[in-house]
Parts: sequence; C-alpha cells; structure tokens
Amino acid sequence: MERTLVLVKPDAMQRGLAGEILSRLERRGLRIVALRLFQMDDELARRLYAEHEGKRFYEGLVSHITACPIIAAVFEGTNAVETVRKAMGATDPAAADAGTIRGDLALEIGRNLIHGSDSLESAKREIALFYREDEVHSYSRDLDRWLFEAPD
Ligand code: RTP
Ligand code: MG
Repeated sequence: MERTLVLVKPDAMQRGLAGEILSRLERRGLRIVALRLFQMDDELARRLYAEHEGKRFYEGLVSHITACPIIAAVFEGTNAVETVRKAMGATDPAAADAGTIRGDLALEIGRNLIHGSDSLESAKREIALFYREDEVHSYSRDLDRWLFEAPD
C-alpha cells in the first residue's frame, strides 16, 4: 500500500472539475485518507516546487498554484504513486493520452489541473508539507477485499 499527494489545482477549481478529478481517482479504487480545501501561500508553494526554482516557468507556477483555494488530498492504494501519475497523464496536456485527466480535460502545460507526487520519496515529503501524521487517516472500507487481494 502506498500513499500519494494529489492537488486539485486552481484551474480545476475555477472550472468546476474538482469532483470529476477526485471521482476518477476514487472510482479507480484508491482510498481517500486525507482531504482539505486550502489556499497555499507563497512560502508553501516554493517549498512544494523547490526542485523547479530558477526555471523560467517557476514564478508563473508559484503564482498559479497560490491563486485560489485548492484541494489537497492523500490517496492510498496499490501502487498509488504510479497509478495517480498514469491517471493524470503527461505534464503537457498536448502530449497526454486520451483517457487521462490532462488528456481529456486540459490544453496547456501551465493549466494542467492536477498535481501528483512523482515518487514514493516525493510523496512522503509532500504529504508532510500539508498534513500532520495524525491527520492522515488509517481505515478500511467494506469493499477493500474486492479491490485489494491482500487488504491488510
Ligand atoms: P506537477 O508537479 O504539477 O504534478 O506536474 P508534473 O510532475 O507533471 O510536472 P513537473 O515537471 O513537476 O512541473 C511542475 C509544473 O510546472 C509547470 N511546468 N511548466 N512551461 C514549462 O515548460 C513547464 N514545465 C513544467 C507545469 O504546470 C507542471 O505541472
Ligand atoms: Mg512534479
């Protein structure tokens, strides 16, 4: 079982796509273990995207991600990190496959709707930016045995 951080970005919030995006991941079988509506400040945005500091798109990225409240969620499940990345599609929606969130619902790289951690290590770091350990829930669902061969 892995956990990964998902952000429903400001463009998705403004376009009314939060439900659609969360629903796609939920229907896949992933379990929501933390969820919050939250406006990121400049400092948090710079910490989240520290790896991109100095790149030409960095300032635009920081101002976009802080533009309005977003949804910060933690999803849990088998291969959660890679499963979410595949469901998101390529960073540039123009290159994203049909059937992915970005490939179906977005057009431009700076308006690509969703963030998902890109490795297990990033997921741990990013979840800790948004949630204390005791705010991420551990629970089982009655249907987990129909999704996971070894639920525990
Ligand atoms: P994210 O971190 O937002 O989940 O997206 P990602 O892993 O697919 O892409 P990443 O390389 O981490 O880039 C972070 C965000 O920066 C914007 N970006 N713009 N103009 C450009 O060349 C460019 N490259 C990246 C995108 O909005 C991307 O989501
Ligand atoms: Mg990234």
